[in-house]
Amino acid sequence: MEEELLRLQSEAKTELSTIIRPDELESFRVKYLGRKCTLTMLMRKLGEVSAQDRPRLGNLANSIKKEIEADFLEKEMALTQLQATGKGESRKDLTLPGRVIPFGRRHPVSQVMLEICRIFEGLGFAVAEGSDVETDYYNFEALNIPKHHPARDMHDTFYFDESVLLRTHTSPMQIRAMEKQEPPLRIIAPGKVYRCDSDITHTPMFHQVEGFLVDRHVSFADLKGVLSIFIAKMFDSNVAIRFRPSFFPFTEPSAEVDIACVICDGKGCRVCKQTGWIEILGAGLIDPEVFRMVGYDSEKFSGFAFGIGAERIAMLKYGINDIRLYYENDMRFLSQF
Ligand code: PHE
Repeated sequence: MEEELLRLQSEAKTELSTIIRPDELESFRVKYLGRKCTLTMLMRKLGEVSAQDRPRLGNLANSIKKEIEADFLEKEMALTQLQATGKGESRKDLTLPGRVIPFGRRHPVSQVMLEICRIFEGLGFAVAEGSDVETDYYNFEALNIPKHHPARDMHDTFYFDESVLLRTHTSPMQIRAMEKQEPPLRIIAPGKVYRCDSDITHTPMFHQVEGFLVDRHVSFADLKGVLSIFIAKMFDSNVAIRFRPSFFPFTEPSAEVDIACVICDGKGCRVCKQTGWIEILGAGLIDPEVFRMVGYDSEKFSGFAFGIGAERIAMLKYGINDIRLYYENDMRFLSQF
């Protein structure tokens, strides 16, 4: 009997010391102090021990019970205090189910930009990035768009002052790269561009990916080949492509590239304005005047450049019909991609 009582006492002590939660404390109370607990059972059996041992064992049992009760109360106080101050392990209920953490996604325009870069990286182009704030020189002057050139009107520029502006296209990266490096070069430059313009098909900020290659003997056929590979990888490999003559001050000859409307398959619809074609980029052979500005010898070198509108590509790829959806940040829209 004495042995059993002492074992119970030490068991209770160890168990109480590991308790950190109120529900554990309650189970402890039932187990060691409850009406049907081992201690009560043992005390009931006191009647069966010899009269000689009874008083000693009775005293022992009583003092053990008192001690367990005291320890229990002390623990209860400690736990309540911890809960109230909000500190300590007792606040963490490890039995609660986990919370689902919402996952972010890449914006459809970012996805398309990354994909464009990846395709050109596969063709040996290196990625370069420039800043959104540019000078008049890099955005216009060095690209053969002098002051009062009519092409400036098309750009609806945001100016900080006379010579500092938000870049209206990624083409200034052509100049920055060529100033730094001798040919051959193959560069792709993704980024934000700005024009003071806003309606169903225009937002004041949008994204372009500029690409350019300079080497010996680069011809229009090289441009056509590279862009055909790009379009086949980006869209369906059988999509029809059309090069339409155009004009840019920094390329000569220049072209705009259309693909057969992916919405109506070239039959004519609202998106392609019944023409069956959709313009996706501007391109051309780099104008010798641009080479002169960066000190390249246009007798020795030639090159091509192109500028791709990322929003436009994403619209065609994902069937988005209003450009403004990109910038409303509605999660119901964004979480679909
Ligand atoms: N920078 C031109 C634009 O924004 C696109 C372009 C880039 C055209 C490179 C030709 C060559 O419209």
